[in-house]
Order: sequence, then C-alpha cells, then structure tokens
Amino acid sequence: MLAGIKRMQEVLGIQDVEVRGKNVLIRVDFNVPLDKDFNIMEDTRMRESVPTINYCIDNGAESVVLVGHLGRPDPKLDGQHGSQFSLSHLVKRLERLLNKEVFFAHSLPMAQTLQVEHKHPVILIENLRFYKGEKENDPEFSKQLASLCDIYVNDAFGTSHRKHASTYGIAQYVPTKVAGFLLKKEINSFAKALANPLRPVLLIVGGAKVSSKLTLLRNILDRVDKIIIGGAMSNTFLKALNYNMQASLVEEDLIQDALEILQIAKQKGVHVYLPVDVVSTAHLEHTDQVQITPAQDIPLNYMAVDIGPATSKLFSLVIQGSQTIIWNGPLGVYEVPLFSRGSFQIAHSISNTYAFSLIGGGDTIDVLTRAGYKDSVSFISTGGGASLELLEGKILVAFEVLDRRS
Ligand code: 3PG
Repeated sequence: MLAGIKRMQEVLGIQDVEVRGKNVLIRVDFNVPLDKDFNIMEDTRMRESVPTINYCIDNGAESVVLVGHLGRPDPKLDGQHGSQFSLSHLVKRLERLLNKEVFFAHSLPMAQTLQVEHKHPVILIENLRFYKGEKENDPEFSKQLASLCDIYVNDAFGTSHRKHASTYGIAQYVPTKVAGFLLKKEINSFAKALANPLRPVLLIVGGAKVSSKLTLLRNILDRVDKIIIGGAMSNTFLKALNYNMQASLVEEDLIQDALEILQIAKQKGVHVYLPVDVVSTAHLEHTDQVQITPAQDIPLNYMAVDIGPATSKLFSLVIQGSQTIIWNGPLGVYEVPLFSRGSFQIAHSISNTYAFSLIGGGDTIDVLTRAGYKDSVSFISTGGGASLELLEGKILVAFEVLDRRS
C-alpha cells in the first residue's frame, strides 16, 4: 500500500509545466447533487477545482476546457439525452465561482469552434457520459478529447478510480499530462493518514453494508490501531457475536467474514469497538415507537437504527485518544432526524480533537454538513468510491497515466 501511495504522490503537478499559450483540458469531477428543479444542492466538488482552473487562467492559458460527468446516464442513448444529466445546469454557478464567463459546448466540435472564436475562453463541455466512448475508454473518443488540448490536467479525484476516456485513455494522445491542485491535495492527505501517520490511528466505519467495506476492513488492519464499527454494518458483527439483532438489517452471508475480521484484528492487536447500546424502532416512519436498549436487548421485531448514548460516550473516548482519524460511513439512519444523533455526536467528538481527521464518502460529508462541523475537520475527501479504493490499498488508475519526475 505504501509504495502505491508514494507512486501516486510522484506525479507532476500543474505548477511543474508551462501553461502560457497552451490549450489546457482539465478533467474535473462536477458530479454534484441537483434537486428536481436542477438547483445545485452542494457544490464542494466545483469549489475544490477552482484553484486549478484559476491557475490556468491567471497564467495565460490559451484556452481552458473543462470536461466531466454528471450522474450515470444510460450510455446506450449515445448522445441523445434529456436535460436531467446535463452539465449546463452548472454554468451559472461556475461563472459565479470563477467570476468569469463560461462557454457551454454541447459537443466536442462546438468546443473546438469556441476555442478558435474567443480569446482565452473557459469552456465547459456537456456530460461526457452522454457518449458511450467515455465509459468504454474508446481510443477514438480519447483522441477526439486529446485534440482539444496541449496539456491534460486531471483534477477529478472522485473519478480517478475509473478507467474512462477522460480519466485514462486521453493521456496516451497528449504530450503533457499532470495533476491539478485538488488531485495533489487528496493524495497527500491520504498519505498523511496512511503512509506515515501520527499514532494511534483510528478508523471509523459505518454505513449500511459490510459487503461494501469488506476489502477495506481486511486490508487496513495493518495500518490502524483501532476500529470503530457502527451503522447497520455493526449489526452483522454483533450477530456474529451471537446477539439477537431482531429485525435489524444483517448480512447473514457475511457473518463468517465478520468473525474472521474480529479474529485477525485480535491477532494483530487492533482494538475493535462495537455498539454497546442501540436506538431501535419498529418502523422507520412511525417514530413514536423508539427504544434505547443495550445491544443484547433489542425488543422483538425492532431494528437497530442508531448507536445509543452509552456507545456515543464510549466512541467519543476512543476518538479523544487518537492522533489520526479516518471516518467513512454514518453510524445510523441519519437521514431521519431522530436517528442522526449518534452520527452527529461522532462528528462533534472528532471536531473537538487535535487529531488529523480525514473524512470520506458522500453520506459522511452530508452528516458533517448537517451537524455543522464541516469546517472543523482536517480534510474532507471529494472522492466516494475513489477514497474507498485508496483505503483498500488499491492504486487509482488515473494516476498511472500522468507524467512523473523520473
Ligand atoms: C462519485 O460521485 O463518486 C464520482 O463522481 C464517480 O461517479 P461514478 O461512481 O458514477 O463513476
């Protein structure tokens, strides 16, 4: 894992090349949530790429072309999509963030025309996933993208685990390919948490499914000193310890894996903390039927939906005793306000430490934002799946194709 992270840190950055007079294409991850009227609900990912875009503008790039995706449109429609996934909804916000006019190109040829017709334009191209060549990493599509630039910049950490034309294939056809500021910041923060961290290192994992974090749990046992497990995934671990979880969500087929992880953790001296009490309910919607009980005593037909107050205190003590904290996944059904207290309490405890804290995953960031602690942690990763893969010890493919010093 360490060699992999070091290798990813070695890629050249935008400051290592001369952008003056060059056409620069930046792969951004503007995959932001929109409401039904296409209003942007949360624009962190856009804001985080502003330094890279501004750097190119300020340093005299001939043109700045932004490419990215929004959601997962059906690639079979190849070019024939409605507006649901259109990046055009982002133009106004982008103009506000950059304080500069942004031209929207419905197609790659249109982007080429805009490059010629305007002086130093900033161009945003329509969702690349409208074209099947993008996800297929098609060489022809990669070439078409490459023809728009002299320099390729990847600033899309959230998509850096995808082997697509704009994250991977394009690099083969561009002479200069480097990382943007966001990509650099992300990999350096993960290196700080994983490669040479201040100890003790604590991993907090939550969310609905053990299955989604099984590889992470297995692979990270050599890197951390303590693990807190919460959310619905802790139900499977508690069940593995013979607790009666009643109607709680349990992944029966992973009980053996859960036991194995607990055993390996014990052998390696990694302390694992599970909920000692839980908030449970008979119905997620009928919140008048709610109980707090020890984890052993969940009432008949009730399901665990949050950690209880004793667990919050226990977990807070573990958090206070840690120097590096990695958090991925909420500890309860936080979308229902009544069951958000455990996750909010954890956010509060992390914000009160002096530890280096790295937070990843869309839901976890949502918890931090709702709880009002977004500015009180050390680093928030813009990557969901990408940050998970990094924690699992994988090399993110998009880094592989960027230029290096040696
Ligand atoms: C994300 O939201 O994690 C990234 O934008 C990647 O999106 P994808 O999982 O649809 O590739």
